[in-house]
Amino acid sequence: MPPFRLLLPILTAGSAVLASQNPFQDKCSGFADKIHLPNVKVNFVDYVPGGTNLSLADSPTSCGETSQSVTADVCRVAMAVATSNNSEITLEAWFPRNYTGRFLSTGNGGLSGCIQYYDMAYTSSLGFATVGANNGHNGTSGEPFYRHPEVVEDFVHRSVHTGVVIGKQLTKMFYDEGFDKSYYLGCSTGGRQGFKSVQKYPNDFDGVVAGAPAFNMINLMSWSAHFYPITGPPSSDTYLSPAMWKVVHEEILRQCDEIDGAKDGIIEDPSLCYPIPEAIICKPGQNSTSCLSGKQANTVRQVLSPLYGVNGTLLYPRMQPGSEVSAAPIMYSGQPFAYSADWYRYVVYSNPDWDATTFSVRDAAVALKQNPYDLQTWDADISPFRKAGGKVLTYHGLQDELISSENSKLYYARVAETMGLPPKELDDFYRFFQISGMAHCGDGDGAYGIGNQLESLNDVNPDNNVLMAMVRWVEKGIPPETIRGAKFTDGPGSAVEYTRKHCRYPRRNVYKGPGNYTDENAWQCV
Ligand SMILES: *[C@@H]1O[C@H](CO)[C@@H](O)[C@H](O)[C@H]1NC(C)=O
Ligand SMILES: *[C@@H]1O[C@H](CO)[C@@H](O)[C@H](O)[C@H]1NC(C)=O
Ligand SMILES: *[C@@H]1O[C@H](CO)[C@@H](O)[C@H](O)[C@H]1NC(C)=O
Ligand SMILES: *[C@@H]1O[C@H](CO)[C@@H](O)[C@H](O)[C@H]1NC(C)=O
Ligand SMILES: *[C@@H]1O[C@H](CO)[C@@H](O)[C@H](O)[C@H]1NC(C)=O
Ligand SMILES: *[C@@H]1O[C@H](CO)[C@@H](O)[C@H](O)[C@H]1NC(C)=O
Ligand SMILES: *[C@@H]1O[C@H](CO)[C@@H](O)[C@H](O)[C@H]1NC(C)=O
Repeated sequence: MPPFRLLLPILTAGSAVLASQNPFQDKCSGFADKIHLPNVKVNFVDYVPGGTNLSLADSPTSCGETSQSVTADVCRVAMAVATSNNSEITLEAWFPRNYTGRFLSTGNGGLSGCIQYYDMAYTSSLGFATVGANNGHNGTSGEPFYRHPEVVEDFVHRSVHTGVVIGKQLTKMFYDEGFDKSYYLGCSTGGRQGFKSVQKYPNDFDGVVAGAPAFNMINLMSWSAHFYPITGPPSSDTYLSPAMWKVVHEEILRQCDEIDGAKDGIIEDPSLCYPIPEAIICKPGQNSTSCLSGKQANTVRQVLSPLYGVNGTLLYPRMQPGSEVSAAPIMYSGQPFAYSADWYRYVVYSNPDWDATTFSVRDAAVALKQNPYDLQTWDADISPFRKAGGKVLTYHGLQDELISSENSKLYYARVAETMGLPPKELDDFYRFFQISGMAHCGDGDGAYGIGNQLESLNDVNPDNNVLMAMVRWVEKGIPPETIRGAKFTDGPGSAVEYTRKHCRYPRRNVYKGPGNYTDENAWQCV
């Protein structure tokens, strides 16, 4: 329970003094009574002072969020909002005392089901009135979708949009000055939700920051499912252990690291890398812990190939080389990928007993044909968003182990072709940055510290922070040319070992010297 409530009984006599000294706090405690919106039920409104370690007792266990440290003073509003007669979202709005006149919606991840409190804490500390919702169901499993299309619809597009509609009304009620600009920040499924807004609700946001987007999502489900039939279970002679994937990764670096001019363990443009896994097939007598069998080399080759459908059409591009070490225990684990299995069981076949080990591209065709509520999120005509004056900034880690960065390039090409616009024109409203050395939405071997989330925060200078770069673009008309990332010595919060300026697609980073590769000025976008 927040300290304010604990203090009340003790300070009753002095509450008039308290009131005059804490108008923000008073406004917060009186806010619940002011909310009369259709379909909205207020669960509680709490003042949370900066420095609170907030207990998240109500957060579903599978979300793994038991507490959140909150750095700024906020007024926390928790609600249930009906989205149909048999579905609802759990919605929170956090109103910071130090408000900048900006509204922001956060997104979700995977198939969840989890309010991303760490994002709400991050953006409210930057002065955004922030909303976050649970995507229409609780927890990380896809089971709530089972025979419940309303929950699927919330997941596809209705949760974020409803949160925005309600959140904007509450923001206008809470702050006398209302809000000036509206933003979105999300990654992975959150990146897809950002593009869903761009495609379907072009007036929801002035600026959308959509990372590692899970768009082309039906095919992403199929692509994630197709690794198991390639690797087989750990007992299979086609399988590689995580230790062997490390050997493969080192070989891929040997073949591709220096294409960008620098031997630094970071591949700047995986699109130029076509590794030959057969190069490390075991020689007679060679210790098999450092080389591959022919069958294993074929596994590597297939994993790094695109997925084609029953008709030979491209469903999903290849996994980009460079992500092997982090992909191994998840995508090539010798187990079917859990999110895909859930999607096929609970949505595609409505059969909880469906056997995920039997997946084939025939299943991919069934799933794509269904595409409920357009989960694909693959519409390439975003002219209504452009006409509305919206800006979208997307980034993708080039070591992403869950969603191939090549898919973001494919979407970029489709938008250019569909709208008939070259990159120079797309730059006016749609900019895409390739983040070398970043894994899925964060982490990785390189300069991934771009402030897309608290865990990747170096600082809030717009040159070094994707969200603040978007704010500068929307409010000052200065678009980002590059995004500077920080390489941390020992994870987020530790010292910065070096920085690198990541290029705007279709440019790529090339090492020109003369300085060390750790010198950002030794690199050029070409
Ligand atoms: C917050 O409290 C939880 C226990 O409720 C604890 O595990 C966690 O370390 C605390 N976090 C901080 C930043 O103090
Ligand atoms: C519930 O059903 C009624 C009657 O069809 C409809 O008017 C109302 O909008 C529905 N509520 C929601 C939240 O969709
Ligand atoms: C309020 O936010 C501004 C930037 O928007 C910052 O410069 C200032 O330090 C913040 N004040 C407090 C009390 O946090
Ligand atoms: C999700 O959990 C919250 C908090 O326990 C609960 O109020 C809400 O009804 C749940 N939502 C669904 C769709 O089950
Ligand atoms: C193969 O290499 C591993 C790891 O270096 C070592 O533990 C093992 O003893 C070697 N096996 C043979 C047969 O040399
Ligand atoms: C494959 O081609 C057939 C015949 O043209 C068509 O009916 C079917 O929809 C196609 N399937 C896919 C997944 O494109
Ligand atoms: C470049 O910097 C790295 C990391 O500090 C260092 O290990 C390496 O020796 C340097 N290389 C040169 C050529 O100075």
